[in-house]
Amino acid sequence: MLPPHREHIDFGPTPYDKLQSKEDIPVIRGNFVDDVMKVELGPWKRMGALGCYLNLADQQDTDAYVCEILPGSQTAPQRHLFEEIIYIVRGQGATSVWHESMPKLTFEWGPGAAFAVPLNASYQHFNGSRDEPVRFFAGTTCPRVLNMFHNEDFIFRNPFEFRERFQATQEFLQYSNHMGARYWETNLIQEVNRFVLDDFPMKGKGVKHMRFTLADTSYGCHIAEYPPGSRSTFHRHGPGAVIIITQGEGYVTLWRDGEQRSQHNFRVGSIYSPGDLMWHGHFNTGHGIMRHFAIRGTSPKYSHDRFRNPMYQMIPMEEESPEIHREFAQELARKGVKAEISVVED
Ligand SMILES: [Fe+2]
Repeated sequence: MLPPHREHIDFGPTPYDKLQSKEDIPVIRGNFVDDVMKVELGPWKRMGALGCYLNLADQQDTDAYVCEILPGSQTAPQRHLFEEIIYIVRGQGATSVWHESMPKLTFEWGPGAAFAVPLNASYQHFNGSRDEPVRFFAGTTCPRVLNMFHNEDFIFRNPFEFRERFQATQEFLQYSNHMGARYWETNLIQEVNRFVLDDFPMKGKGVKHMRFTLADTSYGCHIAEYPPGSRSTFHRHGPGAVIIITQGEGYVTLWRDGEQRSQHNFRVGSIYSPGDLMWHGHFNTGHGIMRHFAIRGTSPKYSHDRFRNPMYQMIPMEEESPEIHREFAQELARKGVKAEISVVED
C-alpha cells in the first residue's frame, strides 16, 4: 500500500520559485493546457525570446516551458546544469551546440523534431524563416537541480564540460542505436509522428511504444501510439511527467483519492501533467491513431526503474467505476468510432 499523497507544506519560496519570480514571464499552473499555440507568452530575457513557464501538477521536480522565436531572430546563447528535452511545435530553424574547447555543431529541424540539449553545453536556437515564428515546448529538470544546489552561478555559469556526452561531429547527429525492443538511443528525432515505433503486444493489439535516451541524458522521454477506439487503464505514480499530444484526439481523466474526477478533451498541441499519486488514464476517441510525446522519468540507458517502479499503481479495469466505461462507450458512439481494445500505459 502506498502512502497517501502529502499536501504541500509552505516554507516559503524555493530557489526555483525565486528564479521564476526574477524572470517574470507568465507561469501556467494546473494539470492541463488546451493548446500550446494559444498560451500567453512574455519577453524572456535569459532566453532572448518570448516564453512562459508550464509549472504543472504543483510539483518541484521537473518543469516545462513554451518559447517563441520571432521571424529572422534567435535565442540568446546559454548553458545550464539541468537537462532539457525539446519538441518543435511550429517553424523551421537550427540549433548550434558547443563547448568552449571545441567547434560548434549546428543542426536543422522542423515541426515534430525532438532533441535534448547536451548537459551544460552552450546552445543557441535560430529561426530559419523571415516570415514565420518558431514555437517549441521543452521539459527540464531545472527545479530538481536548482533546488538541490540552490546557487544560480553554479547552475548557469559553470564551465565544466561533459565531453563524453557531446562531440561536434556528424556522427553525433547520425548516431542511432536500437538498444532493444522499445528502447532507442539517438541525438535527434527528425519527426515524432513518423518515427517507427515497436509493437507493445502485452499492452494490446496495435499499441506501439519507444523510450529514448537523447544526448546521453538521464532525463527520459517516450513516444506512445494508441490505435483507434483504445484507452489506457488508470494508473498513478510520482510527479514530473509532461505529455504533449502530437497526433489524434481524445481525453484524459485525472483525480486523487477522495477528489472529484476531472476530464479534459485533448487534441494536437494539448499538454497535461498528472500530479503526485494522481490517477490518470488516456482515451483515444478519434478515428485515427493517437500519439503522444511524454517527457518523464529516467532514460533507458540510465534507468534505475528497470523493474516495476514501486511508486506505480494500476486499477484493473474490472474494478473501475462503471461510469468510466459508459462515458468512453458513449463518446465513441457519438463519434462513430468502434471500441477496439484496452491498453495499459506506463
Ligand atoms: Fe502515467
